[in-house]
Amino acid sequence: MGQEIARNIILVGIMGSGKSALASSLAKQTGGIKLDSDHAIESRFGLSVSKIFATLGEQFFRDAETRIIREMQNRTGYIFSTGGGIITREINRSLLPSLGLVVWLHASEDVLFERVSRNNRRPLLQTADPRATLHALYEQRLPWYREIAHLQVDTGVHRRTEVVRIVLEAAGWNRSPR
Ligand code: S3P
Repeated sequence: MGQEIARNIILVGIMGSGKSALASSLAKQTGGIKLDSDHAIESRFGLSVSKIFATLGEQFFRDAETRIIREMQNRTGYIFSTGGGIITREINRSLLPSLGLVVWLHASEDVLFERVSRNNRRPLLQTADPRATLHALYEQRLPWYREIAHLQVDTGVHRRTEVVRIVLEAAGWNRSPR
């Protein structure tokens, strides 16, 4: 993205990569508006992500994700934190980079698994062997994150304050007020 100032910051990455926590830190530091796609969908339908998957199905949820991306198209100054599977749809992969700086957060599978094991909020991991499921999702999705990312940061290696610094620098948000 060169030296230009990114219109928005978009956080992508697999479950447990630290998108929500980083979005909160970025919003706090910059005054940017935080939008979390999972939360936006939950409040729109008045249902948890798990309930939506269970009752309306994954495709319904994926349609809702695409709609949220389209709504972002004329917005500026947002920190947009996305669900880990948002990159599974080709249309989403083509739209996301046009919204602003796409930051791919990643971490080792061990770190990811430790983080996602803290609760059972992820419907896709309610399987007999969640570690194997996470591994399969990781393998399948890696090329898609790589395809759309302007920047990648390992959240298992850098401290949060360091990640914030790296992202703001790349977005040009540390240089001038928006
Ligand atoms: C999903 C990730 C979740 C949520 C849903 C599906 C996925 O978001 O959107 O459970 O397909 O990887 P997080 O990445 O915030 O956990």
